[in-house]
Amino acid sequence: MYVDGVVRVPGDKSITHRALLLGALAPGVSHVGGALTSLDAKSSARVLRAMGVEISSLAPGRVVTIRGRRRLQAPSHRLHCGNSGTTTRLLLGLLAGHRFRAELTGDASLRRRPMRRVTQLLQAMGARFEELGRGDGLPLAIRGGALRSARLELPVSSAQLKSAVLLAGMVGGVEVAVHEPHGVSRDHTERLLASFGFTVQTDARGWIHFAPTGRLEAFDLQVPGDPSSAAFLAGAAALAEGGAVRLARTGVNPTRIGFLHVLERMGVPLAMDNLETVHGEPLADLLVRAPTTLSATEVTAREIPGLIDEVPILAVVASRARGTTIFRDVGELRVKESDRLALIADNLRAVGVQAQVHGDDLHVDGTETPPRGRVVTAGDHRLAMAFAVLGTVPGARVKVDDMACADVSFPGFPDALRSLRVRGRR
Ligand code: S3P
Repeated sequence: MYVDGVVRVPGDKSITHRALLLGALAPGVSHVGGALTSLDAKSSARVLRAMGVEISSLAPGRVVTIRGRRRLQAPSHRLHCGNSGTTTRLLLGLLAGHRFRAELTGDASLRRRPMRRVTQLLQAMGARFEELGRGDGLPLAIRGGALRSARLELPVSSAQLKSAVLLAGMVGGVEVAVHEPHGVSRDHTERLLASFGFTVQTDARGWIHFAPTGRLEAFDLQVPGDPSSAAFLAGAAALAEGGAVRLARTGVNPTRIGFLHVLERMGVPLAMDNLETVHGEPLADLLVRAPTTLSATEVTAREIPGLIDEVPILAVVASRARGTTIFRDVGELRVKESDRLALIADNLRAVGVQAQVHGDDLHVDGTETPPRGRVVTAGDHRLAMAFAVLGTVPGARVKVDDMACADVSFPGFPDALRSLRVRGRR
């Protein structure tokens, strides 16, 4: 397969969630352009509407308007967070500072995901929780209240946990310090809070110090393209026999582009142009060329938080590289939308690739044999898209059991991928 073309990927999922959550508490009318309109973004909008926030419908190409209110209203029913871990965990941070009781639930995948990692942090700040299901997970109830300041070491490096704590500090009007143990996760919450005048400072030891010096006010925001969505199309270019793709107006926040460094190490030629900063977030056009050769690499534990969502596509790219690629310390993938670690390895093996999990490490042996077999996604959007990309290599026969789940983060993904594929060199 050859590639050619320009794609503007949908808006950043992480920034869209944060814009909705902050807009909800900013009195006045906020406008969010380029917002993601996927199922996950709709989950955030839905739960906020259930607490009295007016949010216009999320439709491609439309600016989202949010009529915020200083305090959320108690919901009259259980809040359904769909498939979205980010909605759940960030919302818990906001609710920790509200004096009412709210119940949260989600789909079967989300109900299996661990929540004590966030409830324990918020409990230390004064929020109370009831587990309503089978132990560590949804459904659960939160009753927020007067919060106290805290100094919290996170159990894992996670932007969702870090953001929950920072948002609780903001709503509760208290100082917090938070530290990530193994590398730095995405920092969109920190950037947005700083833009409203809140103090967010990282010290030499990596502790983030938050102080409630700011105030939310209605805002206008333009959301860049999601680098995690762009990664699948960059992966398609990495596997192509020739050509290049341009991924226009993509977010290139340094905490999100670990995958670009890995692709570059593997031999994929990359360039970035038209770099600019819009509302505190850097964005650029990414030019990704098909490589002449693709080589294996080692992805270190410290790199993982900066490319956690890109491991599925990088593993797929590694399956076509010369040598064995090792992803160190990717145990977190077990608690994503699926047990992503097991399913990446199982599905690679199902299409004829040698892939093994050793402890928390993933090993992938590259091969030139065309991938053939059936892929089980368990409804996980990133697995569906990664293996659809593997299906573009010459001679491939990869059957993905569920492509519809791509709508969780990247509506229109199959069309975007198809638009880049060309039969021969142009
Ligand atoms: C996200 C953080 C990541 C990521 C998820 C979005 C966010 O989760 O996997 O897709 O927007 O904060 P963790 O922070 O739990 O790793």
